[in-house]
Amino acid sequence: MSQLSQRPADPVVGESHHHESAFGHVTGAALYTDDLVGRLTGVLHAFPVRSEHAHARLDSLDTAPALAVPGVVRVITAADIPGVNDQGVKHDEPMLPVDEIMYFGQPLAWVLGEDLEAAKAGAQAVTAEVTPLPSLVTVPEAIAAGSFHGIQPTIDKGDVDGAFADAAHVFEGEFEFAGQEHFYLETQASLAHVDENGQVFIQCSTQHPTETQDIVSHVLGIPANEVTVQCLRMGGGFGGKEMQPHGYAALAALGATLTGRPVRLRLSRTLDITMTGKRHGFHSTWRIGFDDDGRILALEATLTADGGWSLDLSEPVLTRAMCHIDNAYWVPNIRVHGRIAKCHKTSQTAFRGFGGPQGMLVMEDILGRVAPQLGIDAAELRRRNFYQAGQDTPYYQPVRHPDRMEACWDQVLAAGDVETRRAEIAEFNAAHDDVKRGLAITPVKFGISFNLTAFNQGGALVLVYKDGSVLVTHGGTEMGQGLHMKMLQVAATSLGVPLSTVRLAPTRTDKVPNTSATAASSGSDLNGGAVKDACEQILGRLRHVAAGLLGAPAHEVEISRGIVSALSSAKTVTWEELINTAYFQRIQLSASGFYRTEGLHWNLSEMRGEPFKYFAYGAAVSEVEVSRFDGSYTLRRVDIVHDVGDSLSPLIDLGQIEGGFVQGAGWLTLEDLRWDDSDRPSRGRLATQAASTYKIPSFSEMPEVFNVALLEKAHEEGAVYGSKAVGEPPLMLAFSVREALREAVGAFGAPGAVVELASPATPEAVFWALEAVRSREPVPS
Ligand code: MTE
Ligand code: MOS
Repeated sequence: MSQLSQRPADPVVGESHHHESAFGHVTGAALYTDDLVGRLTGVLHAFPVRSEHAHARLDSLDTAPALAVPGVVRVITAADIPGVNDQGVKHDEPMLPVDEIMYFGQPLAWVLGEDLEAAKAGAQAVTAEVTPLPSLVTVPEAIAAGSFHGIQPTIDKGDVDGAFADAAHVFEGEFEFAGQEHFYLETQASLAHVDENGQVFIQCSTQHPTETQDIVSHVLGIPANEVTVQCLRMGGGFGGKEMQPHGYAALAALGATLTGRPVRLRLSRTLDITMTGKRHGFHSTWRIGFDDDGRILALEATLTADGGWSLDLSEPVLTRAMCHIDNAYWVPNIRVHGRIAKCHKTSQTAFRGFGGPQGMLVMEDILGRVAPQLGIDAAELRRRNFYQAGQDTPYYQPVRHPDRMEACWDQVLAAGDVETRRAEIAEFNAAHDDVKRGLAITPVKFGISFNLTAFNQGGALVLVYKDGSVLVTHGGTEMGQGLHMKMLQVAATSLGVPLSTVRLAPTRTDKVPNTSATAASSGSDLNGGAVKDACEQILGRLRHVAAGLLGAPAHEVEISRGIVSALSSAKTVTWEELINTAYFQRIQLSASGFYRTEGLHWNLSEMRGEPFKYFAYGAAVSEVEVSRFDGSYTLRRVDIVHDVGDSLSPLIDLGQIEGGFVQGAGWLTLEDLRWDDSDRPSRGRLATQAASTYKIPSFSEMPEVFNVALLEKAHEEGAVYGSKAVGEPPLMLAFSVREALREAVGAFGAPGAVVELASPATPEAVFWALEAVRSREPVPS
């Protein structure tokens, strides 16, 4: 076994612990960025002046009236930016517009006030002269206009044309599906101040403190060592704080340097929804060929992502979508084109799964649609096309452990008692005309690692104090996913101390530099590797001290739960005694740790390589009941078996699986972003601006029965303590809900009915799907 994945006896990893801030979360004691405002004096509040056009030329801005508003201290426009007016890494994203307005709600200037009311009143007083320009709001509009930006990669493998010529069955179609609002509980927030040396300090709700630091330094025109970014915790990020916080942090920092006072910028819910990027909706066209047994021979598809006005993370989101269109299925011949529509909308960004869900949705939708036409049960069609050992992905990465996929599938079929329930459902449906039930099972295979190889590195700082207590800082951020608890468990396991000996300090760029985003689900892989590395450096030094204390050879020394022992010694000493001795021997008791994922390579121009360290697998069975009258439905039961390797922290992993699944079900069935695409002046305005019009899952949408199990005997060789990433993959288990809805809708039609279902499959969409099915003639067999 590799060093990294091997567990010692009695490890702290693998134990179930609640989230490290669980009590703080429920009592309100846990602090978020905006809670720190009260700890500073003289804080100014920022509020944006916003565009009321989707696309326009900015002719002039008159800020003078704002300065006449009582309490207004300063108005910030593009002209105030001392460095580069650019808040993105692709350099296509001016922080404040100079001449062109690119979306409805775009900030044109920011007003700083003594309080939020003054800033708001000031923002209202600013006048903008603009010349409206034609706008593109929907993806089909952008496609028709040929409006694209960024890369247009192609995956091309095998003999696609030859395979189509040989295929017994060929189907084609088109599918456009919606994006998703992150709806993190804590909206975007930054709080900046400048200390006596001119050091800029920003407390920011960011998944990527290093990149926030980079953008702030670039906007202010100062080196990175003058900027410190701290992230205490986030009230959810879900990808929405991977790149989107940077501009707000830079604005707050700029305000602080211009006024010498702390500046707070926190978006209200409506500002956040209308100004920040979302999950990319996609448009797809596809053609698929099968042999007589229902095995996929060839797939050809064009995926067009709704990128919004600037690139942000659209390129890597697109490539991940393309690398996941296969999901769990072997597609020997495949050609996929990708492109990014440039529209006058918010700049779409990372969202849990990072394009993976979009690619996989295209395939799951295809299989759900065509199964009846092939005359094969959809579950059987899926199962028949699973990867087998020795096969590789469309980008030529070998699929190791496809047996884990099968194991998840077989276990969830058994745990969900699927065979019996399908018979019961058939009986139920035969006996009911106005309600029908449907059950579906779908698989997940999700690649873990950043596609961009360079991002696969992590850092940590481990300090052991003279009394034996341990303080850990790592490069990852905590957004509710439980990374901090996992890192505490990794540190306690590596050092051999009780969990209570280890404490965690907030993530800060002046503790661990040059970090990657906490994203791609790889937070615990990367930072766990780094924490372990730091601990092992310290242990390497301590072993010799312990050997002296115990009178045994250093290689025999074992430290577990704070007790230091050796096989050939009758003596034991405590961790605290060992540390105290080491201190007096002048042994360094701190270390900075580093980890990089080995074995990865990726060629973007050829869309070829081994971008992923491993795949995470899972399978879910969902059962729904649909009403004919209004398309409303309930989620009756969900069973999940998901592969997290050897879990670092089972309770946290269960929470991630449940939460990810429910968030995915929200995307696919409830959450409905509506932009105004009419010709009214409000064109381009997001109409769904609050919880009243944008419905996210709540308690009433939880499955009535919800069983989640972790795949057993799932040790992942070469990953930290044999574990696997869990943050994103479970989201895609929610395809089973959508496919169960398709089954239930199909049950209203003639046997073998083909069901086309919109995404999101809201009750309204389900209603129209079942109306279509009921009016359609049966498919001739
Ligand atoms: N879980 C909670 N509670 N809140 C979040 O914001 N973000 C998800 C996932 N789980 C998120 C979450 C996303 S998008 C990712 S990439 C991972 O957590 C990031 O954390 P990890 O790498 O530590 O899993
Ligand atoms: Mo997650 S979308 O990679 O932040």
